[in-house]
Amino acid sequence: MKILITGGAGYIGSTIASALEDAGHTPVILDSLVTGRAEFTRGRAFYKGDIADRALVKKVFAEHPDIFAVIHCAALIVVPESTEKPYEYYRENVGKSLELFNSLKEVGSKRLVFSSSASIYDVVPGFMVTEDAPLKPTSPYARTKFMMEMILRDFCAAYGSRGIALRYFNPIGADPQMRSGLQLETSTHALGRLVDVQLGKIPEFTITGTDYPTRDGTGIRDYIHVWDLAQAHVRAVEGFDDAFQKAGNPADNYLVINLGTGRGVTVRELVTAFEKVTGQPIHKSDGPRRPGDTAGSFCSADTAKRMLGWQAELSIEQGISDALKWGEMRGRILK
Ligand SMILES: NC(=O)c1ccc[n+]([C@@H]2O[C@H](COP(=O)([O-])OP(=O)(O)OC[C@H]3O[C@@H](n4cnc5c(N)ncnc54)[C@H](O)[C@@H]3O)[C@@H](O)[C@H]2O)c1
Repeated sequence: MKILITGGAGYIGSTIASALEDAGHTPVILDSLVTGRAEFTRGRAFYKGDIADRALVKKVFAEHPDIFAVIHCAALIVVPESTEKPYEYYRENVGKSLELFNSLKEVGSKRLVFSSSASIYDVVPGFMVTEDAPLKPTSPYARTKFMMEMILRDFCAAYGSRGIALRYFNPIGADPQMRSGLQLETSTHALGRLVDVQLGKIPEFTITGTDYPTRDGTGIRDYIHVWDLAQAHVRAVEGFDDAFQKAGNPADNYLVINLGTGRGVTVRELVTAFEKVTGQPIHKSDGPRRPGDTAGSFCSADTAKRMLGWQAELSIEQGISDALKWGEMRGRILK
């Protein structure tokens, strides 16, 4: 089947494109390249442009009338930047998704899979969140994701389309075949910083916050290999209509599904796993909490298993080792 991926030149979208191809499907990419990379679109149908460009969306569907579903990954995603530039984040993520959803309605595209985020959840006792756990997005970025979900839900209710919001936990690693990985040279995420220390780009890894109410005082996350995440999207489009059947209520036209491993890993545990993979201790120190950070969460992965027949398979060590491999190769693949 043919699948349109907005943001398909980015880290996650391009990995989804590879997973779709490996499963015998055809991705079509729509990406402005604001943060994405043309290298990730090579050999694929690619439209360079903005999701809010109505004429372009119409052109894509005129040239590919057999698009079965849309996976909407395009967004600005840097949390600290979103606090400095809320106008840009609300315009790019919320305003432009609204236009995209309207264009999709006009071309009669009725199936949408949306890249949502676990950052919209509140911190709950025990740190495990199910899809109906309370929401409390704490940054402009997270609030854009929350708003996009609400808009999608209202569109599905009003216009007879169907949407699946996939709430990603913490994607790590790279395509195991090294076709794609994190395109940015430096990362603000914990594993990205560990890789940067290992590659000599920064002197040491600072554990930001050691007084959280977790088992060792450091933040807890659910690190999911980006290849597992990509496989979940393959299942979501292949089993799109079935998922709504399984939801039980035929009137349901909007579903929310967590994508994570179901296992919480603290920052100290991540560091230990990293040292196990590299076989050597890393320079590290304890530091204060970063503003805006929370103790974190991990997911209940039951809904994904039930609705999509999917569960994460790759280990955290594999994610670390693929991130390291990508970190070494990145400069040769992305010029
Ligand atoms: N990376 C994570 O940790 C994470 C976690 C949870 C959710 N997500 C979500 O997953 C999605 C993909 O994230 P990613 O990590 O691949 O980020 P990314 O920056 O690598 O990819 C985003 C892509 O969208 C494109 N884009 C942005 N605005 C656009 C616009 N207006 N029109 C066309 N293209 C546009 C960019 O050029 C880029 O290729 C995002 O929606 C993000 O919110 C990411």
